[in-house]
Amino acid sequence: MPIDNRAARVRDQIEMLASVSEHHQYVQRTFCSLAAKLANDMVSGWMHAAGLKTRVDNMANLRGVLPGNNPQGRVFVMGSHLDTVIDAGKYDGPLGVLLAIDQAARLEAGSLPFDLEVIGFSDEEGVRYHSSYLGSSVVAGCFDQEQLSLKDAKGVSMQQAVEKFGGDVTKLSKDQIPKDKFLGYFEAHIEQGPVLEEKNIPVGVVQTINSQERVEIKVQGVPGHAGTTPMMIRKDALAGAALMIAEVEQLAQKDHENMVATVGKVDVFPGASNVIPGNVNFTLDLRSPNYERLSTFSKKLQQIFSGITQKRGLTYSWNLIKTNKSTPCDDQLTQILSEAISQAGYPVQALTSGAGHDAVAISNLGPVALMFIRCKNGISHHPDEFVATEDIGAAIKVCDVFFDKLSQQMQ
Ligand code: GLV
Ligand code: MN
Ligand code: MN
Repeated sequence: MPIDNRAARVRDQIEMLASVSEHHQYVQRTFCSLAAKLANDMVSGWMHAAGLKTRVDNMANLRGVLPGNNPQGRVFVMGSHLDTVIDAGKYDGPLGVLLAIDQAARLEAGSLPFDLEVIGFSDEEGVRYHSSYLGSSVVAGCFDQEQLSLKDAKGVSMQQAVEKFGGDVTKLSKDQIPKDKFLGYFEAHIEQGPVLEEKNIPVGVVQTINSQERVEIKVQGVPGHAGTTPMMIRKDALAGAALMIAEVEQLAQKDHENMVATVGKVDVFPGASNVIPGNVNFTLDLRSPNYERLSTFSKKLQQIFSGITQKRGLTYSWNLIKTNKSTPCDDQLTQILSEAISQAGYPVQALTSGAGHDAVAISNLGPVALMFIRCKNGISHHPDEFVATEDIGAAIKVCDVFFDKLSQQMQ
């Protein structure tokens, strides 16, 4: 099939998948939701049509295998995630899964010297449990079982959600790809930033993915009557949390080494206009190209939080949900990707990823490579996210050369 037709098919699939949502007004597919199940069904149909043998594993990951020419051969994985943020764009995650299925459709079963496994990971964004890479960390064998007791906003534990979806949490280790079987991982993803557009290049090659820390902060004060409690004796958890959140932004602004810090979710309890807030929970997302710098920032923030809460008679807890160092992409796979980009007729633009990707978790198994695809105005995590069909075509062209080169080198 000509590349233009393949790109149009991927674009149409992107549109169809975007209609699968938990919400009727915007795109939202969180871990183990009904929308996630419907998305798995839809994408599994496309996997079948591409000749893949599919299954949903115990962590809700959708997996399809195209067997290679050697039954003892190793497995090369291409994929990305099918979950989304709230009020999401259409391309973040799905584009990488659909490009992988497009490759499988092009390649014949038995033609590669390795098995090709296409994976639509069940959770990369971490919206439901605030902890990211749930799907890929099971595949990579680095899932922390303690996370199964985390609860979502409705009090449903991760274990309950997985079981309701049809998974068996006692069998998660069986879904890991054994390290000695793993050959490598390739992910294609929208850039989610402006560099490729500024340089007028359709694709780029990622060198490293920045380090990240996710934390949940719980601030405790004393609730009380909004009309009768004098200002000087209040222990208002929200007034304290507001100062803490402002410090997060100020401290990151003072950092000149690309440290970014975000509070994206705040819950106030009991949450009534005439009650002084007794408890506030908020999330913290910290990222930096330099993990040591991130750790120093994190410690400094804890000191500042202690100062603010002590002064106001509040208490707080700092619950580390997840931390990971910067992830370098593999030299050899990145070299093959760069050559593929060049051979497809595009300049080779190196990039750093400020966003997290399933490649971070999968790097625990072995080599990973990551290609970025230009998006409009660098917008992502927003419904205006957009990738031109011509750029999808450019990515397909690169993927074709990448897999042809990879299979030659692995003979
Ligand atoms: C995923 O998009 C992330 O970087 O949080
Ligand atoms: Mn995302
Ligand atoms: Mn993503």
